[in-house]
Amino acid sequence: MVRIPHDEPTPSGATATGDANGSDLVSAGVQPEDGEPSVALRPRRFDEYIGQTQLVDKLRIYVDAAQQRGDALDHVLFHGPPGLGKTTLAQILATELDVQLHVTSGPAIEHKGVLAAQLTGLGKGDLLFIDEIHRLPATVEESLYSAMEDRRIDLPVGDGSRARTMSFQLPGFTLVGATTRTALLTAPLRDRFHIVEALAFYTDAELSNIVARAASLLGVKTTAEGALEVGRRSRGTPRIAIRLTRRIRDFVQVGGYSSIDASVADEFLGRLGVDRHGLDGMDRRLLEAIATLFDGGPVGIDALAASLGEPRDTLEDVHEPFLLQRGFLIRSPRGRMITERARRHLDESGAS
Ligand code: ADE
Repeated sequence: MVRIPHDEPTPSGATATGDANGSDLVSAGVQPEDGEPSVALRPRRFDEYIGQTQLVDKLRIYVDAAQQRGDALDHVLFHGPPGLGKTTLAQILATELDVQLHVTSGPAIEHKGVLAAQLTGLGKGDLLFIDEIHRLPATVEESLYSAMEDRRIDLPVGDGSRARTMSFQLPGFTLVGATTRTALLTAPLRDRFHIVEALAFYTDAELSNIVARAASLLGVKTTAEGALEVGRRSRGTPRIAIRLTRRIRDFVQVGGYSSIDASVADEFLGRLGVDRHGLDGMDRRLLEAIATLFDGGPVGIDALAASLGEPRDTLEDVHEPFLLQRGFLIRSPRGRMITERARRHLDESGAS
């Protein structure tokens, strides 16, 4: 587990896990890229956060209320596709509450002892962020129930005839869980979170503001049209917007361009394999596979995953939500189908 004081940038390698995109969990934020100085792009406070306005307004109130009561914030569950800001919001909550953030992930908590060590290391009011909380082992999950409800953890001590259970009292703390889909959680765990919030895809305007902010922090100029073009083609996802901004910044720097304007953005997004709807190579391969190998669908997700050589989870968590939201894909009880819009797009881009 990594403890992150709220006033310091996330250290490199803050999490042991990668997201379903195969990239580091915090790469869209403060993670320094190879050979470049760390630039803190991740917003630290609610005031710097762009988008998710209704959610942020509610969180501000919950933070104020907890502070007025002098108690820990209720346990929070964030769910939604990768890259939409679950970790960032956890960091902001810790900063706003003026407490420490402790970061770990479901698969990293291999057994009860690891959980106990983490819980007993928490200070009063601290936040424990568990990413991919749906991947907690079942026995660990059960121990979490009493910790969440009664601030207590029971641990076996001694062995043989002297084996018994000792209870440890915990300080008031907040568990912040993150998952790509709430359906992956067991009902008893889900029910123990009193704040359950979905993160939605960002609008083009919000993403263009995120691009402009990131570009300015990275020291590269953007025009309004350039930022909008990058934002529009970022799959509704800040992490992707930031990643694209970083890469276009490289092209701009090496090519001697003065700013990211619309034509610079268009040229380099094309070279990065991002098409005019923001679909990446894998999105297009998924649609093409349904169009050509499965006659447009319906096709079951396992057959589709096998034909693409991609894990089913990656398709379900990373690619499908955006393709569904943008009307390229339909999920029917008989399987996945592509839409007329997807066919037109594939024809226009000469893909099938
Ligand atoms: N960087 C990544 N996500 C962001 C957001 N929601 N607001 C501002 N900057 C960001």
